[in-house]
Amino acid sequence: MEEQLAAGGNRTGSGHGWRHGTVVAGVAWKNPVGTASGTFNLDACKDFYDVSQMGAISTKGVSPIPWEGNPTPRTAECPAGMINSVGLQNPGVDAYLTDELPRLKALGATVVTNVAGHSDDDYAEVVEKLADSPADMLEINVSCPNVSHGGMSVGSDPQALNRLILRLRGLSDKPMVVKLTPNVTDIVAVARAAVDGGADALSLINTLVGMRIDIKTGRPILAQKTGGVSGPCVFPIALGFVWRVRQALPQIPIIGIGGIDSGAKALEFLYAGANAVEVGAAALVDPVAPLRVARELDDLLDERPGLAGKLMKGQTW
Ligand SMILES: Cc1cc2nc3c(=O)[nH]c(=O)nc-3n(C[C@H](O)[C@H](O)[C@H](O)COP(=O)(O)O)c2cc1C
Repeated sequence: MEEQLAAGGNRTGSGHGWRHGTVVAGVAWKNPVGTASGTFNLDACKDFYDVSQMGAISTKGVSPIPWEGNPTPRTAECPAGMINSVGLQNPGVDAYLTDELPRLKALGATVVTNVAGHSDDDYAEVVEKLADSPADMLEINVSCPNVSHGGMSVGSDPQALNRLILRLRGLSDKPMVVKLTPNVTDIVAVARAAVDGGADALSLINTLVGMRIDIKTGRPILAQKTGGVSGPCVFPIALGFVWRVRQALPQIPIIGIGGIDSGAKALEFLYAGANAVEVGAAALVDPVAPLRVARELDDLLDERPGLAGKLMKGQTW
């Protein structure tokens, strides 16, 4: 056992003495690696590893009422990745507050509650209900189709996004991360709009729109026809987005997401300007991937004291 701990803890993660933490919008993470929303399920993961050992756990998007999600098929494979149209299936904010959130907190996790909405009022209702909850941070997913904006995601319109974040800002003092959609022509314009509205941090990227077609039928594989692409194929795109936002907004905390499946890829995001990262699709292939990435990154940061020191101070600029 001692050897195991010296080598970096046991398989479940308990006993790992993290050497390199980070701070995101004033919230301390044990290490710079979190799980990405929609790819972590507490019941599926808790027996594989100690969830308190992650930098943070970003939950599945929470909406005002339970949502069943989209019809099946809603996942498809693609070269070096996957496409999903799960559609924000979740039990609703009331069930989240009485079940998943208390269980996560009882296990000692740092919790980033991901917020979903199909209208501005939806977001406002969830954020209000979470204001006095034990969630450590809120992550507002602005990629959802939004009826207040003619079915377009609010995250693709800087003015609408700015209005929404200003409104949410008034409803909660919790550190608020705005999770940006990459399906825009100018990521810097939406990033700026979120920050001007009061975002404490940004996370990026959400999935990119894509599709697959079954050549036997000539029809789309997904029932929704298109879905969101994620996994290793989006890594260089996501990295480019993070770098562009960091160049334009030198001092906003950034959580980098997209195709991370190793400590080395997480490190690239930190060099691009991210203060932390989240691991998504890789956890659907191997549930322990987020913890493995965190350990690999911890080792890589040993040799980079300058970067590690900046992370600890909540600065990568
Ligand atoms: C099955 C699935 C469900 C997802 N659900 C959500 C969600 O509810 N809210 C959200 O903000 N992002 C959601 N995402 C996006 C991921 O959190 C992440 O931003 C994206 O997949 C890119 O990271 P990756 O390449 O590491 O997967 C989902 C992704 C997948 C694959």
